[in-house]
Amino acid sequence: MVNKVTVKDLVCYYGNKCVLNLLNIQIMKNEILNIIGPANSGKTTFLRTLNRMNEYNLLYSYDGKIYLDGKNIFTMKVEQLRRRISMLFAMPTPFPMSIYDNIVYAPKHLKLIKSKAEQNIIVERVLKDVSLWDEVKDRLNWPAMKISGGQQQRLCIARVLAINPEVILFDEPCSGLDPISTAKVEQTMLRLKQKYTIVFVTNNVKQAFRIGDRTAFFFMGELIEINNTKQLFHSPNNKKTADYITGRFG
Ligand SMILES: Nc1ncnc2c1ncn2[C@@H]1O[C@H](COP(=O)(O)OP(=O)(O)OP(=O)(O)O)[C@@H](O)[C@H]1O
Ligand SMILES: [Mg+2]
Repeated sequence: MVNKVTVKDLVCYYGNKCVLNLLNIQIMKNEILNIIGPANSGKTTFLRTLNRMNEYNLLYSYDGKIYLDGKNIFTMKVEQLRRRISMLFAMPTPFPMSIYDNIVYAPKHLKLIKSKAEQNIIVERVLKDVSLWDEVKDRLNWPAMKISGGQQQRLCIARVLAINPEVILFDEPCSGLDPISTAKVEQTMLRLKQKYTIVFVTNNVKQAFRIGDRTAFFFMGELIEINNTKQLFHSPNNKKTADYITGRFG
């Protein structure tokens, strides 16, 4: 296994409140790494730190190092970093434009595509990657807001794929979705790990068990335990982990 992201002694604060305390974690290429843990344990802060989304929050500060393929992410150009490490949020956030334009918006802006033919190829490829092509291929000029919530979430994943990232951060992507849409997003994630590295924050322990190769358990800003998912669920090393996965708190 190849190491994709290395987090060394990461500490994060909002004001003087420490919300991630000395985090050390390695993320492997083409794995799905689950991040689980109760509310306020620092899961979202961790994702937002990985693609520097907190930079404009004046309350926020950090210490420590994060490397992507051995390069310090804090010295990269932020646009460059976000092209390589992209984030997807809990609620689908399509732009108020057509399905087609949602996908080509960023690649056009970044001058990644030159011709209309190339655009069409990308749109088809990424919609197929998220199993949405058959559902929308006859109405690509429909407003994205008019498709279902589950389809919107897969469209948002497709939009991320269109810029060819290397790492995708999912922050509870299924929390607003019904079970059928959830299953489709899960299938999509499992397929995507062949090409991408995925960090997957979920509050749903059963979902984490189904999806992630490894699982990290966060509690009150500390990484309590990280292990192969089956091992962590079947024989957790820490009592807090055991309590959490058996539903005793959280
Ligand atoms: N923008 C912010 N300003 C100040 N404090 C914040 C901010 N965002 C998060 N916090 C605090 O940081 C801590 C960690 O929050 P974070 O959102 O990372 O947790 P989480 O594990 O994602 O929780 P949840 O499961 O509820 O999404 C919490 O105590 C929270 O109140
Ligand atoms: Mg969160």
